[in-house]
Amino acid sequence: DKGGWSSFMAKEISEEPEAVANTILGRTRDGQVVIPELDGLDDLFAGIQRVIIVACGTAAYAGMVGKYAIEQWARVPVDVELAHEFRYRDPVIGADTLVVSISQSGETMDTLMAVKYARERGARTLSICNTQGATIPRESDAIVYTHAGPEVAVASTKAFVAQITALYLLGLHVGRVRGTVGATEAAQHVLELESIPDKIRRILSNEQERIEQFAHWMADTRSVLFLGRHVGYPIALEGALKLKELAYIHAEGFAAGELKHGPIALIEPGQPVFVIVPSPRESAELQKKVVSNIEEIRARGARVIAIAEEGDAAVLPYADEVLHIPLAGPLFEPLLAVVPLHIFAMGLSMAKGLDVDQPRNLAKSVTVE
Ligand code: F6R
Repeated sequence: DKGGWSSFMAKEISEEPEAVANTILGRTRDGQVVIPELDGLDDLFAGIQRVIIVACGTAAYAGMVGKYAIEQWARVPVDVELAHEFRYRDPVIGADTLVVSISQSGETMDTLMAVKYARERGARTLSICNTQGATIPRESDAIVYTHAGPEVAVASTKAFVAQITALYLLGLHVGRVRGTVGATEAAQHVLELESIPDKIRRILSNEQERIEQFAHWMADTRSVLFLGRHVGYPIALEGALKLKELAYIHAEGFAAGELKHGPIALIEPGQPVFVIVPSPRESAELQKKVVSNIEEIRARGARVIAIAEEGDAAVLPYADEVLHIPLAGPLFEPLLAVVPLHIFAMGLSMAKGLDVDQPRNLAKSVTVE
Protein backbone atom coordinates (compact mmCIF):
# COMPACT_ATOMS: atom_id res chain seq x y z
CA ASP A 1 0.00 0.00 0.00
CA LYS A 2 1.45 3.32 -1.10
CA GLY A 3 -0.39 5.11 1.69
CA GLY A 4 -1.30 8.12 -0.42
CA TRP A 5 2.13 8.55 -2.01
CA SER A 6 2.52 8.75 -5.78
CA SER A 7 4.90 5.79 -5.75
CA PHE A 8 6.47 3.30 -3.38
CA MET A 9 9.73 5.10 -3.95
CA ALA A 10 8.28 8.43 -2.79
CA LYS A 11 6.95 6.65 0.28
CA GLU A 12 10.23 4.86 0.93
CA ILE A 13 12.32 8.02 0.62
CA SER A 14 9.97 9.66 3.10
CA GLU A 15 10.69 6.74 5.42
CA GLU A 16 14.46 7.22 5.39
CA PRO A 17 14.41 8.95 8.81
CA GLU A 18 12.53 6.01 10.37
CA ALA A 19 14.79 3.50 8.62
CA VAL A 20 17.75 5.00 10.47
CA ALA A 21 15.89 5.52 13.76
CA ASN A 22 14.44 2.00 13.83
CA THR A 23 17.80 0.44 13.04
CA ILE A 24 19.31 2.20 16.06
CA LEU A 25 16.34 1.41 18.29
CA GLY A 26 17.10 -1.06 21.11
CA ARG A 27 20.80 -1.11 20.24
CA THR A 28 22.12 1.57 22.55
CA ARG A 29 22.31 1.63 26.32
CA ASP A 30 23.63 4.53 28.41
CA GLY A 31 25.05 6.13 25.31
CA GLN A 32 26.92 2.99 24.24
CA VAL A 33 26.17 0.61 21.41
CA VAL A 34 24.91 -2.73 22.64
CA ILE A 35 23.64 -5.06 19.94
CA PRO A 36 21.63 -7.81 21.67
CA GLU A 37 21.90 -10.12 18.63
CA LEU A 38 25.67 -10.14 19.08
CA ASP A 39 25.56 -11.10 22.76
CA GLY A 40 28.00 -13.92 23.46
CA LEU A 41 29.66 -13.53 20.07
CA ASP A 42 32.67 -11.48 21.16
CA ASP A 43 34.98 -14.20 19.88
CA LEU A 44 33.75 -13.36 16.40
CA PHE A 45 35.43 -9.98 16.67
CA ALA A 46 38.22 -10.30 19.21
CA GLY A 47 40.53 -12.50 17.16
CA ILE A 48 39.95 -11.30 13.62
CA GLN A 49 42.73 -9.80 11.53
CA ARG A 50 40.55 -8.48 8.76
CA VAL A 51 37.03 -7.83 7.61
CA ILE A 52 35.78 -8.36 4.08
CA ILE A 53 32.44 -6.84 3.17
CA VAL A 54 30.65 -8.59 0.31
CA ALA A 55 27.57 -7.17 -1.39
CA CYS A 56 26.19 -6.02 -4.75
CA GLY A 57 25.00 -2.70 -6.12
CA THR A 58 23.71 -0.19 -3.63
CA ALA A 59 24.46 -2.52 -0.72
CA ALA A 60 28.12 -2.56 -1.81
CA TYR A 61 28.18 1.24 -1.76
CA ALA A 62 26.83 1.14 1.80
CA GLY A 63 29.71 -1.24 2.53
CA MET A 64 32.21 1.24 1.09
CA VAL A 65 30.88 3.91 3.45
CA GLY A 66 30.98 1.45 6.36
CA LYS A 67 34.64 0.66 5.71
CA TYR A 68 35.71 4.15 6.78
CA ALA A 69 33.88 3.93 10.09
CA ILE A 70 34.81 0.33 10.94
CA GLU A 71 38.50 0.91 10.22
CA GLN A 72 38.52 4.11 12.23
CA TRP A 73 36.72 2.75 15.26
CA ALA A 74 37.64 -0.94 15.33
CA ARG A 75 41.17 -0.56 13.91
CA VAL A 76 40.82 -3.61 11.72
CA PRO A 77 41.51 -3.57 7.98
CA VAL A 78 38.32 -3.70 5.91
CA ASP A 79 38.03 -4.57 2.23
CA VAL A 80 34.84 -4.20 0.27
CA GLU A 81 34.23 -6.57 -2.58
CA LEU A 82 31.48 -7.09 -5.06
CA ALA A 83 30.17 -10.51 -4.10
CA HIS A 84 30.34 -11.84 -7.65
CA GLU A 85 34.02 -10.92 -7.97
CA PHE A 86 35.04 -12.19 -4.53
CA ARG A 87 34.27 -15.83 -5.17
CA TYR A 88 36.11 -16.23 -8.41
CA ARG A 89 39.58 -15.10 -7.49
CA ASP A 90 40.72 -17.51 -4.78
CA PRO A 91 40.73 -14.89 -2.01
CA VAL A 92 43.05 -15.24 0.99
CA ILE A 93 40.64 -15.91 3.84
CA GLY A 94 40.51 -18.12 6.89
CA ALA A 95 39.49 -18.29 10.53
CA ASP A 96 40.90 -14.82 11.19
CA THR A 97 38.62 -13.27 8.56
CA LEU A 98 35.16 -11.91 9.26
CA VAL A 99 33.09 -11.75 6.09
CA VAL A 100 30.25 -9.26 6.48
CA SER A 101 27.53 -9.55 3.86
CA ILE A 102 25.03 -6.79 3.21
CA SER A 103 21.74 -7.50 1.48
CA GLN A 104 18.34 -5.86 1.66
CA SER A 105 16.51 -8.91 0.36
CA GLY A 106 18.79 -11.51 1.89
CA GLU A 107 18.23 -13.54 -1.29
CA THR A 108 20.74 -12.08 -3.77
CA MET A 109 22.35 -15.18 -5.28
CA ASP A 110 25.77 -13.59 -5.83
CA THR A 111 25.97 -12.50 -2.19
CA LEU A 112 24.64 -15.82 -0.90
CA MET A 113 27.24 -17.75 -2.88
CA ALA A 114 30.02 -15.48 -1.57
CA VAL A 115 28.89 -16.14 2.01
CA LYS A 116 28.76 -19.91 1.47
CA TYR A 117 32.17 -19.81 -0.13
CA ALA A 118 33.60 -17.82 2.80
CA ARG A 119 32.19 -20.37 5.25
CA GLU A 120 33.65 -23.28 3.35
CA ARG A 121 37.03 -21.54 3.59
CA GLY A 122 36.67 -21.32 7.38
CA ALA A 123 35.89 -17.61 7.64
CA ARG A 124 33.38 -16.27 10.16
CA THR A 125 30.30 -14.66 8.66
CA LEU A 126 27.95 -11.88 9.70
CA SER A 127 24.88 -10.85 7.74
CA ILE A 128 23.40 -7.35 7.61
CA CYS A 129 19.96 -7.93 6.19
CA ASN A 130 16.57 -6.23 5.99
CA THR A 131 14.43 -9.33 5.61
CA GLN A 132 13.73 -11.51 8.63
CA GLY A 133 14.52 -15.17 8.07
CA ALA A 134 15.92 -14.72 4.55
CA THR A 135 18.46 -17.19 3.15
CA ILE A 136 21.67 -15.17 3.64
CA PRO A 137 21.17 -14.55 7.38
CA ARG A 138 20.28 -18.23 7.83
CA GLU A 139 23.64 -19.15 6.28
CA SER A 140 25.61 -16.78 8.57
CA ASP A 141 27.17 -17.10 12.04
CA ALA A 142 25.69 -13.78 13.17
CA ILE A 143 22.92 -11.43 12.03
CA VAL A 144 22.33 -7.73 12.46
CA TYR A 145 18.98 -6.85 10.91
CA THR A 146 18.34 -3.45 9.44
CA HIS A 147 14.88 -2.23 10.36
CA ALA A 148 13.99 -0.20 7.28
CA GLY A 149 10.67 -2.01 6.88
CA PRO A 150 9.66 -3.72 3.64
CA GLU A 151 11.16 -2.07 0.56
CA VAL A 152 8.92 -2.47 -2.47
CA ALA A 153 10.34 -0.12 -5.11
CA VAL A 154 12.93 -2.00 -7.13
CA ALA A 155 15.69 0.54 -6.53
CA SER A 156 16.94 0.63 -2.98
CA THR A 157 16.66 3.85 -0.95
CA LYS A 158 15.66 3.54 2.70
CA ALA A 159 17.50 0.21 2.98
CA PHE A 160 20.71 2.01 2.00
CA VAL A 161 20.62 4.46 4.90
CA ALA A 162 19.64 1.62 7.23
CA GLN A 163 22.62 -0.44 6.01
CA ILE A 164 25.04 2.41 6.72
CA THR A 165 23.47 2.82 10.16
CA ALA A 166 23.90 -0.90 10.92
CA LEU A 167 27.53 -0.79 9.77
CA TYR A 168 28.21 2.18 12.07
CA LEU A 169 26.61 0.39 15.00
CA LEU A 170 28.69 -2.66 14.15
CA GLY A 171 31.87 -0.55 13.96
CA LEU A 172 31.23 0.88 17.41
CA HIS A 173 30.30 -2.54 18.80
CA VAL A 174 33.46 -4.16 17.45
CA GLY A 175 35.50 -1.15 18.61
CA ARG A 176 34.23 -1.68 22.13
CA VAL A 177 34.93 -5.43 22.10
CA ARG A 178 38.43 -4.82 20.78
CA GLY A 179 39.02 -1.92 23.14
CA THR A 180 39.84 0.49 20.31
CA VAL A 181 37.13 3.05 20.94
CA GLY A 182 36.63 4.66 24.33
CA ALA A 183 33.27 5.18 26.01
CA THR A 184 33.35 8.97 25.66
CA GLU A 185 34.14 8.85 21.97
CA ALA A 186 31.56 6.14 21.34
CA ALA A 187 28.92 8.16 23.18
CA GLN A 188 29.59 11.14 20.90
CA HIS A 189 29.16 9.00 17.80
CA VAL A 190 25.96 7.49 19.18
CA LEU A 191 24.57 10.97 19.79
CA GLU A 192 25.50 12.00 16.29
CA LEU A 193 23.89 8.89 14.80
CA GLU A 194 20.74 9.50 16.84
CA SER A 195 20.53 13.04 15.47
CA ILE A 196 20.49 11.84 11.84
CA PRO A 197 16.75 11.03 11.48
CA ASP A 198 15.74 14.61 12.36
CA LYS A 199 18.35 15.98 9.99
CA ILE A 200 16.99 13.82 7.16
CA ARG A 201 13.50 15.08 8.00
CA ARG A 202 14.83 18.60 7.63
CA ILE A 203 16.17 17.85 4.14
CA LEU A 204 12.83 16.34 3.17
CA SER A 205 10.86 19.32 4.39
CA ASN A 206 13.23 22.10 3.28
CA GLU A 207 14.65 20.78 0.03
CA GLN A 208 12.49 18.02 -1.46
CA GLU A 209 10.18 20.26 -3.49
CA ARG A 210 13.03 22.35 -4.79
CA ILE A 211 15.02 19.26 -5.83
CA GLU A 212 12.02 17.77 -7.64
CA GLN A 213 11.49 21.08 -9.43
CA PHE A 214 15.15 21.15 -10.33
CA ALA A 215 14.92 17.58 -11.67
CA HIS A 216 12.03 18.71 -13.90
CA TRP A 217 14.20 21.42 -15.44
CA MET A 218 16.83 18.81 -16.14
CA ALA A 219 14.50 16.32 -17.81
CA ASP A 220 16.36 16.54 -21.15
CA THR A 221 19.79 15.94 -19.67
CA ARG A 222 21.67 13.10 -21.35
CA SER A 223 24.59 12.67 -18.98
CA VAL A 224 25.29 13.52 -15.35
CA LEU A 225 28.52 13.16 -13.40
CA PHE A 226 28.91 12.82 -9.64
CA LEU A 227 32.02 13.63 -7.64
CA GLY A 228 32.81 12.88 -4.04
CA ARG A 229 35.78 12.32 -1.80
CA HIS A 230 36.32 10.10 1.25
CA VAL A 231 32.86 8.92 2.35
CA GLY A 232 31.40 11.18 -0.34
CA TYR A 233 32.90 8.92 -3.00
CA PRO A 234 30.54 5.96 -2.49
CA ILE A 235 27.69 8.48 -2.32
CA ALA A 236 28.72 9.74 -5.77
CA LEU A 237 28.56 6.13 -7.00
CA GLU A 238 25.13 5.69 -5.43
CA GLY A 239 23.82 8.93 -6.97
CA ALA A 240 24.97 7.76 -10.40
CA LEU A 241 23.52 4.26 -10.02
CA LYS A 242 20.11 5.62 -8.99
CA LEU A 243 20.03 7.92 -12.00
CA LYS A 244 20.90 5.10 -14.40
CA GLU A 245 18.29 2.82 -12.90
CA LEU A 246 15.44 5.26 -12.48
CA ALA A 247 15.88 7.79 -15.28
CA TYR A 248 17.88 5.75 -17.84
CA ILE A 249 20.44 8.53 -18.04
CA HIS A 250 24.10 7.94 -18.51
CA ALA A 251 25.69 8.74 -15.16
CA GLU A 252 29.11 8.18 -13.65
CA GLY A 253 30.41 8.63 -10.15
CA PHE A 254 34.07 9.46 -9.54
CA ALA A 255 36.39 9.99 -6.64
CA ALA A 256 37.04 13.73 -6.94
CA GLY A 257 40.80 13.19 -6.75
CA GLU A 258 40.64 11.02 -9.89
CA LEU A 259 39.40 13.92 -12.03
CA LYS A 260 42.79 14.94 -13.32
CA HIS A 261 43.71 11.31 -13.98
CA GLY A 262 41.14 11.07 -16.72
CA PRO A 263 37.50 11.98 -16.17
CA ILE A 264 38.11 15.72 -16.48
CA ALA A 265 38.34 15.10 -20.23
CA LEU A 266 34.59 14.52 -20.14
CA ILE A 267 33.87 18.05 -18.98
CA GLU A 268 32.45 20.27 -21.69
CA PRO A 269 30.32 23.37 -21.43
CA GLY A 270 26.97 22.68 -19.79
CA GLN A 271 27.90 19.21 -18.41
CA PRO A 272 25.98 18.82 -15.13
CA VAL A 273 28.20 17.65 -12.26
CA PHE A 274 26.94 16.95 -8.77
CA VAL A 275 29.64 17.49 -6.17
CA ILE A 276 29.36 16.25 -2.61
CA VAL A 277 31.21 18.85 -0.58
CA PRO A 278 32.68 17.79 2.79
CA SER A 279 31.91 19.94 5.80
CA PRO A 280 34.25 22.95 6.16
CA ARG A 281 33.88 22.75 9.91
CA GLU A 282 34.63 19.05 10.23
CA SER A 283 37.07 18.45 7.39
CA ALA A 284 38.53 21.75 6.26
CA GLU A 285 41.38 20.07 4.38
CA LEU A 286 39.08 17.83 2.35
CA GLN A 287 36.67 20.66 1.75
CA LYS A 288 39.42 22.83 0.26
CA LYS A 289 40.43 20.05 -2.11
CA VAL A 290 36.88 19.54 -3.28
CA VAL A 291 36.37 23.28 -3.79
CA SER A 292 39.50 23.31 -5.92
CA ASN A 293 38.07 20.40 -7.98
CA ILE A 294 34.93 22.50 -8.43
CA GLU A 295 37.02 25.41 -9.69
CA GLU A 296 38.75 23.12 -12.20
CA ILE A 297 35.54 21.79 -13.72
CA ARG A 298 33.82 25.15 -13.52
CA ALA A 299 36.65 26.68 -15.55
CA ARG A 300 35.82 24.13 -18.26
CA GLY A 301 32.16 25.03 -18.32
CA ALA A 302 30.66 22.38 -16.03
CA ARG A 303 27.34 23.17 -14.47
CA VAL A 304 27.99 22.47 -10.79
CA ILE A 305 25.32 21.30 -8.41
CA ALA A 306 26.88 21.26 -4.94
CA ILE A 307 25.54 19.25 -2.04
CA ALA A 308 26.87 21.28 0.84
CA GLU A 309 26.37 21.97 4.47
CA GLU A 310 23.93 24.75 5.40
CA GLY A 311 25.91 27.94 5.79
CA ASP A 312 28.97 26.74 3.86
CA ALA A 313 29.89 29.98 2.08
CA ALA A 314 32.99 28.67 0.31
CA VAL A 315 31.02 26.83 -2.38
CA LEU A 316 28.57 29.61 -3.20
CA PRO A 317 30.76 31.46 -5.73
CA TYR A 318 31.47 28.24 -7.61
CA ALA A 319 28.19 26.39 -7.64
CA ASP A 320 25.32 26.96 -10.04
CA GLU A 321 23.00 25.31 -7.60
CA VAL A 322 23.44 24.38 -3.94
CA LEU A 323 21.39 21.66 -2.26
CA HIS A 324 21.67 22.11 1.47
CA ILE A 325 22.14 19.45 4.11
CA PRO A 326 22.39 20.00 7.87
CA LEU A 327 25.68 19.95 9.71
CA ALA A 328 27.06 16.49 10.56
CA GLY A 329 30.38 14.97 11.55
CA PRO A 330 32.52 13.79 8.60
CA LEU A 331 31.57 10.14 8.86
CA PHE A 332 27.90 10.96 9.16
CA GLU A 333 27.53 13.21 6.14
CA PRO A 334 26.79 10.32 3.73
CA LEU A 335 23.53 9.59 5.54
CA LEU A 336 22.42 13.13 4.66
CA ALA A 337 24.12 13.74 1.30
CA VAL A 338 22.48 10.72 -0.28
CA VAL A 339 18.95 11.98 0.39
CA PRO A 340 18.99 14.81 -2.21
CA LEU A 341 20.43 12.33 -4.73
CA HIS A 342 17.63 9.84 -4.12
CA ILE A 343 15.06 12.62 -4.50
CA PHE A 344 16.76 13.89 -7.65
CA ALA A 345 16.81 10.49 -9.37
CA MET A 346 13.15 9.91 -8.49
CA GLY A 347 12.25 13.44 -9.65
CA LEU A 348 13.99 13.00 -12.98
CA SER A 349 12.32 9.63 -13.55
CA MET A 350 8.94 11.21 -12.85
CA ALA A 351 9.72 14.19 -15.07
CA LYS A 352 10.39 11.74 -17.91
CA GLY A 353 7.14 9.94 -17.20
CA LEU A 354 8.84 6.66 -16.30
CA ASP A 355 7.79 3.97 -13.87
CA VAL A 356 9.83 4.89 -10.77
CA ASP A 357 8.96 1.74 -8.87
CA GLN A 358 9.59 -0.74 -11.67
CA PRO A 359 12.44 0.39 -13.91
CA ARG A 360 12.87 -1.61 -17.08
CA ASN A 361 15.03 -4.76 -17.10
CA LEU A 362 15.42 -4.86 -13.30
CA ALA A 363 14.13 -7.16 -10.59
CA LYS A 364 13.88 -6.41 -6.88
CA SER A 365 15.90 -9.37 -5.87
CA VAL A 366 18.39 -10.98 -8.16
CA THR A 367 18.16 -14.66 -7.37
CA VAL A 368 20.23 -15.88 -10.30
CA GLU A 369 24.02 -15.60 -10.62
C1 F6R B 1 20.04 -0.41 -6.57
C2 F6R B 1 19.59 -1.73 -6.15
C3 F6R B 1 20.51 -2.90 -6.35
C4 F6R B 1 20.59 -3.73 -5.06
C5 F6R B 1 21.43 -4.99 -5.29
C6 F6R B 1 21.58 -5.80 -4.03
O1 F6R B 1 19.08 0.56 -6.35
O2 F6R B 1 18.50 -1.87 -5.65
O3 F6R B 1 21.77 -2.49 -6.77
O4 F6R B 1 21.15 -2.93 -4.07
O5 F6R B 1 20.80 -5.78 -6.28
O6 F6R B 1 20.35 -6.23 -3.54
P1 F6R B 1 20.22 -6.80 -2.08
O7 F6R B 1 20.53 -5.68 -1.15
O8 F6R B 1 18.80 -7.28 -1.95
O9 F6R B 1 21.22 -7.91 -1.96
